[in-house]
Amino acid sequence: MSETQIRIFDTTLRDGEQSPGCSMNLQEKLSLARQLERLGVDVIEAGFPIASDGDFESVQAIAKQIENSIVCGLARTSEMDVERAARAVESARHPRIHTFIATSDIHLEYKLRMSREQVLEEVDRAVRLARTHVDDVEFSAEDATRSDRDFLVEVFSAAVAAGAMTLNVPDTVGYTTPKEYGALIEYLRERVAGAEGAIFSVHCHNDLGLAVANSLSAIRAGARQVECTVNGIGERAGNTSLEEVVMAIKTRSDQFEGLDTGIRTQEIYSTSRLLSSVTGVQVQPNKAIVGDNAFAHEAGIHQDGVLKAAITYEIMTPESIGRASNVLVLGKHSGRHAFRDRLEELGFVVEGDEFQRAFKRFKDLADAKKVIYNEDLEAIVADSVQTVGDRYGFVSLTLTCGSDRPPKALVGLDLDGKSVEREASGVGPVDAIFRAISELTETDSGLIQYQVHAVTAGLDAQGEVSVTIEEDGRRVIGNGIHEDVMVASAKAYVHALNKLEWHKHRREVDAPRGI
Ligand code: KIV
Ligand code: ZN
Repeated sequence: MSETQIRIFDTTLRDGEQSPGCSMNLQEKLSLARQLERLGVDVIEAGFPIASDGDFESVQAIAKQIENSIVCGLARTSEMDVERAARAVESARHPRIHTFIATSDIHLEYKLRMSREQVLEEVDRAVRLARTHVDDVEFSAEDATRSDRDFLVEVFSAAVAAGAMTLNVPDTVGYTTPKEYGALIEYLRERVAGAEGAIFSVHCHNDLGLAVANSLSAIRAGARQVECTVNGIGERAGNTSLEEVVMAIKTRSDQFEGLDTGIRTQEIYSTSRLLSSVTGVQVQPNKAIVGDNAFAHEAGIHQDGVLKAAITYEIMTPESIGRASNVLVLGKHSGRHAFRDRLEELGFVVEGDEFQRAFKRFKDLADAKKVIYNEDLEAIVADSVQTVGDRYGFVSLTLTCGSDRPPKALVGLDLDGKSVEREASGVGPVDAIFRAISELTETDSGLIQYQVHAVTAGLDAQGEVSVTIEEDGRRVIGNGIHEDVMVASAKAYVHALNKLEWHKHRREVDAPRGI
């Protein structure tokens, strides 16, 4: 890899997954990992194997399937963590172990209760142990931006001496500013013993809304790996947004002197949509690059300018991120080949049962709706992926309602492989549907939020419903997509209940979250 190449380290499946409501099951993580590989990320941080059996299994499954990207597992410096990460990534073609320990005096005193000498010993031991398993070891100094600079120099020098090739400088609490962060990277590059053979990496949280700016400043100071997440999801205010940092480097190449990433930018939009569909967490409409309004010109004077010459108000094209929306792609006479080809053009490789389900959904939709847009196909793929391995399956809904009668819903579910049905009435149709489902599943969860939005323009657009529910302090978001919003609501609720079930059976082992 050349010195002008910025490595993109994607941590959507690890740091991103830690954000409330963004948890994903194994199938969802696998399909996202495959999409990240198509996007061209250099490293996929697939999870934190010691955190739970579920995390371990997902890292292992991703390691087996991914061919081109490096697959990385996170570990604290304890022997148990490193061994578990090593086992999780052992079948990867390109495995990496990422080990970390906090280095700020605040963390040493209140969290670790360790001296600086002890931290140095931990770093040396963990990196050496990791190197007995893999050649590619990354070391992170958690809370680096609030750490003593000269202690950081010692820590990173110890990590290099023990065999780490990538040195990550996290702004764990989103505290730094662009100038300060750039200067820190320069300081470390000048003083860490062996820095010339190492890659400096940056990992920024967005608490002050500066994560992308900080990462870009660090790149100018010589960092050559950026850790980021799709849609900027992550702890608290999130992480550096992958699409923003990549498009900034590309669009302002004049400012980044020949630097580039290996990202296939045309895959950005489908990756963002896949993540939103799988987690049910939509991006804000004005989100840079991938928000609904990012390329919408509302003011008359802007529209006039763009029609005369796009360059008047457009600094990049929607096509450059794969966002040629509202294109008629297929009709009801299209067959499997055309459907598969179109999905592949959109960046989705869907196989086996997932493909059969997706094709059936497409045929049903094409019968109901005249025009099928790219967004419809993306929604269909996401919907087909999320039903694998679930405890509950949505089967049918019959609804009677109107201004002169109370709404009644008859819901059919597949419950642990058995078909069950229940009728319930409610204040409105959604209430009736949710009551029927909660009686069938005997859930104790409470409804926190219900949201609906149209996938495309047009009165016959598919509706995408997100449902947030909570049980025992655990919040999950489910979503469902259908041309009938009531069916989408039932599917979204069932999806959320499946996520809750998955969490109940995901045995947490001393889960060290919140980093
Ligand atoms: O924010 C952080 O410090 C982290 C490290 C584990 C890299 O996520
Ligand atoms: Zn982080």
